[in-house]
This record gives sequence, structure tokens and C-alpha cells, in this order.
Amino acid sequence: MQPTFVMCRPDHFAVSYVINPWMDPVAWASDSERLAFESLAGWETLCAAMRERGARIELVPPVRGLPDLVFTANAAVCLDGVALMARFRHGVRRAEEHHYFNFFQSLHNRGFVRRVHTMPDDVVLEGAGDCVWDASRHCFWLGHGQRSDARAAATLARVFDVDVVPLELVDPRFYHMDTALVPLPYGDVLAVRQAFSHDGWRVVRGRIGTDNLIEVPADDAATLAANVVCLGNDILMGRCSTQLESLLAGRGYRAVRLPLDGFNRSGGSAFCLTLRLDRASFLRPAAKPHREPFGFAAVTA
Ligand code: ARG
Repeated sequence: MQPTFVMCRPDHFAVSYVINPWMDPVAWASDSERLAFESLAGWETLCAAMRERGARIELVPPVRGLPDLVFTANAAVCLDGVALMARFRHGVRRAEEHHYFNFFQSLHNRGFVRRVHTMPDDVVLEGAGDCVWDASRHCFWLGHGQRSDARAAATLARVFDVDVVPLELVDPRFYHMDTALVPLPYGDVLAVRQAFSHDGWRVVRGRIGTDNLIEVPADDAATLAANVVCLGNDILMGRCSTQLESLLAGRGYRAVRLPLDGFNRSGGSAFCLTLRLDRASFLRPAAKPHREPFGFAAVTA
């Protein structure tokens, strides 16, 4: 199946309230027109880069007054054609819930989704932003402690019948799991050590194994460089240091930098602007194709 994503054009994107340490409405307001324009342009380059690599994109209609609706990773958790709709922590984002719900009803009517579930009223789970599917380990990594509740693990296990690894997020800058840990194809995982407690990091290392763990350098973590969309070997991301670029290249991935700084100001980057619809738990990732690492190819004359 064609990789299929839900996205939302940032026509009404802005930073107008504070629910994470990245957000500064005063700084945004001082240059809002330029920042809104740049964000829209950056989002369009992300869409184009995804489409060029074979992605299909379903668009949620933007809504005035809901600036964070663009972060569609938070809409729901999706696996095997089943969607579990998000319940948000903060009132300012709760208003998004029924727009996402209506959109998922339309996806259901068009055959993209088989079933749509909702969360129990008193349990918070902020979608795939806090519940990241790892096809190689056949589990969800669930972030809790900042936005989602650890209790969401029970709902996830019931709805999807797969392993859930709950981990507390201890650094307020990495408030959603997708800012701290994102699996790449072929078993590798990008992860930010300072997002986890000492014990949490041990779990991350133990599950992933040192061979597959790509620890994001602190300077890159500070630009949300773990928050990527990977299609084939191409990693679509915002900023990326040359150090991280060569770490990735050494494992056969190519960093594709996109101008997503505007979304950093809201605490987001590439991954959280997208929601992958076609993940299937029975699909084990393919073996890594053998190729020369990018940037180290032998020159043949
Ligand atoms: N301003 C948004 C919030 O704080 C950003 C959400 C980014 N989404 C994500 N999955 N990391 O909720």
C-alpha cells in the first residue's frame, strides 16, 4: 500500500498560547506575518518532499482559532486500519478533538479506516505524538508524565492487542514521545537521552540494542531533530548538524533538511506534522538494503 498520511495545511498556524516550553506568543506576535508565511512555505516543501517519495496525503480542513490542528500526529493512534482518537490534556487543544473525529469518520466512509475508537473520558492520550509505533520491535513506545497518562497503556493494549512500552518523559522540552524517540525503517531508532530518566534510558537501550540506537546529539535535540519522517532511506527533517548527518549517513540514511523552524516555535517538526495511516502490525520491516553509506561512497574513475 502507498504510504498514506494525514496532514493539515497551516493556514491558521500561530503560537498564541503556551503549553510547552518552546512556545512564546509574544515573540511570535512581534513578527507573526513573516513567521506564518515561512511556516506555510516550509510545510509545503515537506508535502512536496513526501509526495516526491511516493506518499499520499489526506488533508484535514484547517480551522480558524485552532493553531495546533496542523500537528496531526496528535489526532489519533492508527494501526491495522484501526484508529484510537486522541484525548488532549489542555483545553486549548481539546477543541480539536471533534474536528479530527469528523475527519476520521470521513476516512472510515472512504475505506481508509475500518474502526474508530475513542478514549475513556478520564484518560489522556495525545495520539501518535505520544504513542510511536516501532515495527521492528512490534511495540508502541508510549510517552507519559507530561501530556499522556500512563493509564493509556491499558486502553492501547485492549484496542490494538500489541505490546506497549510506557516510559516517563522527564524533560519538559521533550513533552511528547515523538520529540524523544522515532523509529526509522530497518530497525534503527533516533532517541534523545536527556528526555528519559536513567532507568528509562536503560529500557530504551535494552530494547533497541546499541547497534540500532542512534543517540541524537544535544545540539540537535535542541532543534527537535529526532522528530523526522522517513521514507525509504531519506530522512525528512528540520535542522540537522553535520555530526548527526554523518551518523545517519554511516547507517545508510540521507538527511533531507527542510525549513521547518516556524514549527519549532510551537514545539514541533516534521513527524508531528504528519500522521501515518497505513501502519500494519503484521508487516515486519524489510532487511536493510545493502548500499554504500551516503557520503562515503568509493569514487570509481
Ligand atoms: N504546540 C503543540 C502542543 O504543544 C505542538 C504539538 C507537537 N506535536 C507533537 N506530536 N510533538 O501540543
